[in-house]
Amino acid sequence: MCGIIGYVGEKQALPILIEGLKRMEYRGYDSAGIALFGPNGLQYEKYAGKIARLEEHLVGKNYSGTWGIAHTRWATHGEPNDNNAHPHLDCTGEIALVHNGIIENYATLHEWLQRRGHKITTDTDTEILVHLIEDSYDGDLVEATRVALSQVEGTYGIAVVSRNNPGLIVVARHGSPLVIGRGNGENFVASDVAALLRHTNQVIYLDDLEMAAITHDKTDISKIDRTVVNRDSEEIEWSLEQIERGGHAHFMQKEIHEQPTTIVNAMRGRLNLDEATARLNGIKRHLDELGQIDRIILTACGTSWHAALIGEYMIEDLARIPVEVEYASEFRYRSPIIDPGTAVFVISQSGETADTLAAMREAKRKGATVLGICNVVGSTIARESDGGVYIHAGPEIGVASTKAFTSQITVLSLIALLLARMRSMSFEKGREMIDALEALPAKVQTILDREDEIKGIAADYYRKDNFLYLGRGYNFPVALEGALKLKEISYIHAEGYPAAEMKHGPIALIDERMPVVVIALRDSVYDKVLNNIQEIRARKGTVIAVATEGDTRIKRHVDHVIHIPETIETLTPLLSIIPLQMLAYHMAVLRGCDVDQPRNLAKSVTVE
Ligand code: G6P
Repeated sequence: MCGIIGYVGEKQALPILIEGLKRMEYRGYDSAGIALFGPNGLQYEKYAGKIARLEEHLVGKNYSGTWGIAHTRWATHGEPNDNNAHPHLDCTGEIALVHNGIIENYATLHEWLQRRGHKITTDTDTEILVHLIEDSYDGDLVEATRVALSQVEGTYGIAVVSRNNPGLIVVARHGSPLVIGRGNGENFVASDVAALLRHTNQVIYLDDLEMAAITHDKTDISKIDRTVVNRDSEEIEWSLEQIERGGHAHFMQKEIHEQPTTIVNAMRGRLNLDEATARLNGIKRHLDELGQIDRIILTACGTSWHAALIGEYMIEDLARIPVEVEYASEFRYRSPIIDPGTAVFVISQSGETADTLAAMREAKRKGATVLGICNVVGSTIARESDGGVYIHAGPEIGVASTKAFTSQITVLSLIALLLARMRSMSFEKGREMIDALEALPAKVQTILDREDEIKGIAADYYRKDNFLYLGRGYNFPVALEGALKLKEISYIHAEGYPAAEMKHGPIALIDERMPVVVIALRDSVYDKVLNNIQEIRARKGTVIAVATEGDTRIKRHVDHVIHIPETIETLTPLLSIIPLQMLAYHMAVLRGCDVDQPRNLAKSVTVE
């Protein structure tokens, strides 16, 4: 979703700002703009479309300046056109502002500002902010921003500059992330650390209702109510190399291939062989409580929600604790029952998803202990939760989540193991699970090595308009995730279903034009799934099966088989999802889709 980058220092700001915008392209956006100040006064450009279009308009123009802000917009209020793109200017054209978030009382403020004579020229909620700042501006940009924000309801991450305050960027946050990058004689601000990695690894995260006055040598942080905040910078561990494609055609492909490593990273130092359990330092101080709980709620959105479903199967199966999985967007409005025996885990790759964050805050308000399972270190969910487990997948740039999903499942399996060993699971069972976990990365690699075979299947089917994905037990959520991957990046309509549920509706769709991907592993539900396959074949549906290595019987019943190695049933999702990710990827590539930045989607949905 929207991205902000700002720079103040001695270098030319333009290339830094453009590069920063490009680093955030993966988040999803529909317009881009830039404002900088220099010897030529305020120069700004903003256009709907890709950053490349903005760059085309910069060619031949003498852009010069060592201080400026830039933005990628994902439209909420007002269609994505040149006029609605950020930055927005006040009536005098001297103050420029970029904004992520939504101003909820913008209609009231709009009317009030018009009555005071301000000329509002766009359809956005954002433009209100810059006129509010103008309205109370008397030379002090920090103070005018404070006053403006005190009138605002909603969410914001903003960066503001004014011609009359050279070398100053004022930033503020409430609900939309902002991070300051500290350099040597230069400072940065961004909504995403990926935009800063090239320049610095020293960052300061702003908390909600905080603002900062940033110059080339200072980053003065305060609360919007004027309380001074002292906060040291932290070091980011991610490297520039991790956010580059490294020889792959797309980030998604790179991230699919990273999974043998990222699964190892999710387990690293966490397997306790002596006691046949997991060692999770981030939740260590909650162990007594976790030993007593009688219910768990897992809440998340999108792919993370699918990981939560697998977590439910794992925890109930192994630890025998009842688990509920809630869409975060429903949880926040549903008045959920949280009693003292309930622990809530929130799962989010980015740690910034607005609905997941709101669900977390709701659970905290109701007195629950809230534990996070996040990827992005220092993200809002990671910081606001009572404890948690990082998945350590490294930056995930492809909008369609792949490696974060398998890392989330790995961490959930460790949590299930830990909880189970505190309850009824035997030492032997614990060791068996640890052995299976350790063997996983090599097994994932053998599936990745079959990419050409999967690509061949993709070539046979990429022109289809509809797909059905079926699975049972642990592999029902995998069917959902496989279908989600396909629709996200190839725009082919796909639905995931529990295999047996097919008879209650989707079977009506099956004919010779409907390919069905069935996860049919040799597990406790194998024979049942084979029956479901017969039902599809009887109606002339085409079947692509994901089956267990060595299963020769299945070939007779299906059109294509993708074999995956055997593992314990609990861990099968970590293997069965891999061919489905590759299948979706290759079909999208063959259809000529923009795999890493699919239309309308955002990597991190920071608005409700
Ligand atoms: C967006 C992304 C999905 C992601 C979901 C939840 O919709 O496009 O890939 O699964 O948000 O994101 P989170 O960062 O909370 O896991």
